Amino acid sequence: MDTETDFYSTWLEIDLDAIKNNIQRIQELTQTAVMAVVKANGYGHGLVEVARTAQAAGAIWCGVSRIEEAKTLRQAGITCRIMVLGYTPPKRVPEAVAENISLTVYTPELATAYALEAEHYGFRLHVHAKFDTGMGRLGFFPDEGVAFAKWLHEHPGLELEGIFTHFAKADEPDSDETDKQIDRFEILIQELAAAGIRPPWIHACNSAGAINYPRARYDMVRAGIAIYGLNPSEQSPLPEGFLPALALKARLISIKDYPAGHGISYGHIYHTKKQERIGVVPIGYADGFRRHPGNYALIHGKKVPILGKVCMDQSMLALDDVPEARIGDEVILIGSQNGNQITMDDLAADWGTCNYEVVTNLATRVPRIYPGSKEAQGNENE
Ligand SMILES: Cc1ncc(COP(=O)(O)O)c(C=O)c1O
Repeated sequence: MDTETDFYSTWLEIDLDAIKNNIQRIQELTQTAVMAVVKANGYGHGLVEVARTAQAAGAIWCGVSRIEEAKTLRQAGITCRIMVLGYTPPKRVPEAVAENISLTVYTPELATAYALEAEHYGFRLHVHAKFDTGMGRLGFFPDEGVAFAKWLHEHPGLELEGIFTHFAKADEPDSDETDKQIDRFEILIQELAAAGIRPPWIHACNSAGAINYPRARYDMVRAGIAIYGLNPSEQSPLPEGFLPALALKARLISIKDYPAGHGISYGHIYHTKKQERIGVVPIGYADGFRRHPGNYALIHGKKVPILGKVCMDQSMLALDDVPEARIGDEVILIGSQNGNQITMDDLAADWGTCNYEVVTNLATRVPRIYPGSKEAQGNENE
């Protein structure tokens, strides 16, 4: 019988039950509300599919980076609260209000521009004020915070729904810097309280923060990498019970025996040392699989090197140690096979980057397959 993957040469297999499990683990661990951070196409796992899963698992918020992502979620029928964590042009305020999307404000100019738009149309826009307690990125400095939060709180066009901050070193379990950031945020919260302001949503932690800094969990945690079952960093591995959700797979599409001394792939940086059996697998840098020396793959559960340069759409596999390999066999670039595995962290370490960059760079042309999932079809309520 055909399976869904018989129709693809290269695909991502995504386990939405793993994502559901991971969201429930975060809820158990933190005992707070969860914002599922689904920006960047759900960290490559599929924006809408992950958001549906998150909603079904009890996430109260979905966090995105751009208003386009938020609107895609609304069009797909996502009803939970949605917040844009990054910049939104003031011209998009009417769309944000119409779709019940909360926006981030982080400068007086931006807040004023939002307020003018909202006033002009007679709207009330939900905003979260972002504070730079030490991240060195977006946000009001805490000392300008109280006056500004007061202004936001009192403005008829704006509803100050939340205040938040973001940590620079939450993945370092005992970071003085994170403690200082939390202290600065605490002072701000107290000063606001003294001015009679307590927005409904106070939030600070990403995944690593949620795990390492319980005192900063507040009203919710914004969990991205953990809901995908990936470690926030080497120093901050996920606790027990989280499951990776994604595997990158392809099929062997050619097998040939080359004589000794034959060049392989562009530039012939590899020459066969003897007669060698070499396969072709349709994965390339246009899929997000980098041209990096020392790549490898799994076939029949064996780890085999990728030879020569990775091309745009193809890579070559050493098959001398896999005589049983046949055209059509499944090849694993990320994932496990017969007890052997290549993790996102392995690939990130080989490529000299972090797992966040590897996973969010998996190309959109690679089909995402959701075996056995109801959420992927949008009928999770049936
Ligand atoms: C403001 C903000 N909050 C939360 C997150 C989620 O972070 P993580 O994936 O480490 O949980 C991000 C991700 O970059 C972010 O920018």
